[in-house]
Amino acid sequence: MLSENMQKALNSQINKEIYSSYLYTAMSMYFEVEDLSGAASWMKTQALEELTHADKFMSYVNERGGRVILEALKKPVFSWETPLDAFSGALVHERFISASINDIVSLAREEKDFMSDNFLQWFVAEQVEEEASVSEVIRMFKLAGGAGGGLLMIDRELGSRVFIPPAAE
Ligand code: FEO
Repeated sequence: MLSENMQKALNSQINKEIYSSYLYTAMSMYFEVEDLSGAASWMKTQALEELTHADKFMSYVNERGGRVILEALKKPVFSWETPLDAFSGALVHERFISASINDIVSLAREEKDFMSDNFLQWFVAEQVEEEASVSEVIRMFKLAGGAGGGLLMIDRELGSRVFIPPAAE
């Protein structure tokens, strides 16, 4: 059985994961308007991945006999100055998510809830990848320096990302 505090923390994380999907969908729509279809597709894939994160949390809460309570989503930002700004915003957001997961791990350890601690380790590892993949895109945009040809090459590269459901990983 989950403690009340743990259930609250997990529900809050479910909201953050679904919001992440909402934010990356907003970024995808921004890239569509900017005619960067590869970046739009990359963000759409990211948005789908975030829903699988939320789903993992929801399944876990149910398995532990808890109650999933969905909260309202806040309106995401929908416009950025440049593609680099959008990806920089994504990195800030992923760091926020990492900190949030670390806080839940701390709570699990305080409460000696080793089942939750063990469950959360998948997300601790995932956040390393999440931050690294966004940082890699930022590095590419910085190297291209906003130049037309470079931007197109990056966009093509971003468009090659495919969605891999966690079960098939
Ligand atoms: Fe679900 Fe991007 O963290």
